Amino acid sequence: MKVNLDIAVIPEELAYKKFEGKTAVAIDVLRATTTIITALQNGSLLILPVLTPEEAFQKFQESDSPWIIGGERGGRKVEGFHLGNSPREYNSETVRGKKILLTTTNGTRVLKMVEVAGEVLICAFVNLTAVARRLAAQIQKGALQPEEVLIACAGTEGNFSLEDLVCAGGLIHKLDRLVSEKLKKSEAAEAAEILYRSYQTDLLGLFRRTRGGQGLIDIDLGEDLKFCSQIDLYDLVPRLKNGIITP
Ligand code: MLT
Repeated sequence: MKVNLDIAVIPEELAYKKFEGKTAVAIDVLRATTTIITALQNGSLLILPVLTPEEAFQKFQESDSPWIIGGERGGRKVEGFHLGNSPREYNSETVRGKKILLTTTNGTRVLKMVEVAGEVLICAFVNLTAVARRLAAQIQKGALQPEEVLIACAGTEGNFSLEDLVCAGGLIHKLDRLVSEKLKKSEAAEAAEILYRSYQTDLLGLFRRTRGGQGLIDIDLGEDLKFCSQIDLYDLVPRLKNGIITP
């Protein structure tokens, strides 16, 4: 049996994809999934994605244990939050041993939408090969039941984000090298892989031209583009289960 590999290019497409109980991969390269992977790599215990800053403040006040609240609106740190959404802020001095409440404009929204999948893996360029290896191992074992993987791109406020689709294409490309004979790619998956092959040598140049990348440059966070363009910086594959992301 081959594994169906498909992409929701924007979160709104998820409404048409029946992915309950399947395996999903969430991608928001600039910057939510890059930040999540970095925080967990640097020793954060868990991340609880929430939809709004109000919800984050409420959960923060209700809880006995100390949380860090992080995230952005318009790319900037929300007033009263400890951290913004720059992966560079989530270093080990700041996050080691800490639990994080995170809300971002698009990234945490897509995570809430894919929560109903059987398994949700968190992906960005920084852990591309690790996610491909994890999926390939599960495919080889025949452990994906049903045999379908849906890659969910966060996009930007309902619009398609090229950097997310190129990252999805990178994952497909790497998966293809590992378990080519077991994959049945959708048309979107085929197209994304071609995009990755043409952009992979200049991801930073690509980010600088995208809506999300330009928005970060405009608010002096252009350094984040460099960080997010690093392929395979980490070997970690965070998972979202029961609303919580763990390493
Ligand atoms: C988002 O979730 O919309 C992004 O991560 C935006 C950002 O980082 O500025």
